[in-house]
Amino acid sequence: MPEKIKADLISLSEEARDDLARAETPEEVEALRIRYLGKKGGVSVLLRGMGGLAPEVRPEVGLVANRVRDELAEAIKARTEELAARKARGPAVDVTLPGRRRRLGASHLITRTIDEITAIFTRMGFNVAEGPEIELDYYNFEALNFPKDHPTRDMQDTLYVSDRVVLRTHTSPMQVRTMERQRPPVWVIVPGKTYRRDSDVTHTPMFHQIEGLVVDRDITFGDLKGVLISFVRQFFSPDTAVRFRPSFFPFTEPSAEVDIGCVICGGRGCRTCGQTGWLEILGSGMVDPEVYKFVNYDPDEVTGFAFGMGIERIAMLKYGIDDIRLFFENNLRFLKQF
Ligand code: PHE
Repeated sequence: MPEKIKADLISLSEEARDDLARAETPEEVEALRIRYLGKKGGVSVLLRGMGGLAPEVRPEVGLVANRVRDELAEAIKARTEELAARKARGPAVDVTLPGRRRRLGASHLITRTIDEITAIFTRMGFNVAEGPEIELDYYNFEALNFPKDHPTRDMQDTLYVSDRVVLRTHTSPMQVRTMERQRPPVWVIVPGKTYRRDSDVTHTPMFHQIEGLVVDRDITFGDLKGVLISFVRQFFSPDTAVRFRPSFFPFTEPSAEVDIGCVICGGRGCRTCGQTGWLEILGSGMVDPEVYKFVNYDPDEVTGFAFGMGIERIAMLKYGIDDIRLFFENNLRFLKQF
């Protein structure tokens, strides 16, 4: 009989420890204290059975009962402290959860197109430069041989900051700034933002251009053609048709616009190319000797050519985009495609 009570006390103690280990809140621990150590708890109930024991075995059983009670009280205190400490540490990190993926950004299509064009020209030996978007009338027009009454100086196209200051309408002012800064040979391209008062499906008030300028001894129109044909074939495709069409710019003479075979219809004629089979992609020409006067270059010593193209336009043609405003609306579903 005493052996039975002792064994019951010990298995009750083991059961209580298992329960305690699973208790996750102070409330659960308190419920267990009441269940095992309370007045109507397990230990008390067992001890009530002591009445039926012979007096000489009672001390022995009482010893075991006291030990079990003390140990349980100790275990309850320890668990309570552990839970309090865990709460103080804050929520546990579940190391089995999958990590949160950091979304990588990507270059905007305009940036990528600039990088692509820049890479082609740097492989041909050009350097890259940048210049101010808020520009003096002197660099934007005057030193580029624009007469005072030239139509592009009209307020219709140019965004004026003051009488003498404009938002540059093209990247060409960097031709003058570059030549002011260095002596020939010059091989430079200049990507950047440009501004005109214009807005429809193919024009935005801010757009991008890349300017090119080569000034060296014995540079000919043949060099201009060679460099630009090579560029077009690398940027579009090796079998893209190219033609040079006579044109006019105040700062180049002779001047030519460059057309490529229509990328939409392959030259048969469609709405994009206005049934001509050709698309204009850039302006170019031999640097006009008038411009050299402004930078003290000797036109008897050096010759050169320049070109300028619109980045949005060229990207629209290459990637088949039909509305220029898509570049600037920050619609991620559009931008992520490239
Ligand atoms: N700046 C001219 C434009 O914006 C393009 C151009 C650049 C033409 C260089 C010739 C030489 O239309």
